[in-house]
Amino acid sequence: MSKVSVRGIEIAYVDAGVGPAVVFLHGFPFNRSLWRDQIEILSPHFRVLAPDLRGHGETSVVPGAATMEEMAADVIAWLDALEISEAAVCGLSMGGYVTLALCREFRSRVRCLVLADTRAVADTEEGKQSREQQAQKALQEGMAAIADGMLPKLVAPVTVAKHPEVVARVREMILKTDPAGAAAAQRGMAQRRDQTDLLPQINVPTLVIVGENDQLTPVAESETMHRLIAGSRLEIIAGAGHVSNLEQPETFNRVLRDFLVSQYS
Ligand code: MLT
Repeated sequence: MSKVSVRGIEIAYVDAGVGPAVVFLHGFPFNRSLWRDQIEILSPHFRVLAPDLRGHGETSVVPGAATMEEMAADVIAWLDALEISEAAVCGLSMGGYVTLALCREFRSRVRCLVLADTRAVADTEEGKQSREQQAQKALQEGMAAIADGMLPKLVAPVTVAKHPEVVARVREMILKTDPAGAAAAQRGMAQRRDQTDLLPQINVPTLVIVGENDQLTPVAESETMHRLIAGSRLEIIAGAGHVSNLEQPETFNRVLRDFLVSQYS
């Protein structure tokens, strides 16, 4: 693990391998370890980088609201510090929201895109209220309460039945998140804008991935992104829920590797 100071915070990250840069942005309330398997399989061919987004993992926690724009600006400042001008960017869920914010503001830095288990639309009013309740729950009751509430929605029933080690790994990531960081991310996600209008403007190769049993960002959200991003590819992963890269790693990794290799060969 390395750390760099940018924009008044310390960003913890992994930087492995050599070759074209591929950046992985984790979901909520996870950390860079979400991408452990992808880092391992891709680092013989690529320079694979994964930060802990602000408020998560070993990156600084800034109370308040951590907006998607703020996180995208952190990622760009971190890439600047590493002198990386262009990267493939792969974001899962909240990481996808950050990826879209990054595309809007810093399009020239994105060589190609992977949008995994995410969506372009903003929250409904009800969704925003629920995020505030979750933020307060994290602060008052801690992350075990958040994990208990989220886990049934994060993973597919088949993962619960057949892969308790995956459920344990997801739970461990949640428990390691600072409640103040989680609350800030919830408040930041509640403020996020609708990015639907950006989708037809995306002119880099894009892969959209979603677990067929994703309850949090259902398949229909990915189908919409696929329809609006010209030339994009959609992969629906059988037997996966919201954390598709952990739940069906073989399929996820094959699809991801094929896409990235095709972009750089
Ligand atoms: C995530 O996995 O990042 C979150 O579930 C996204 C969200 O809460 O919208």
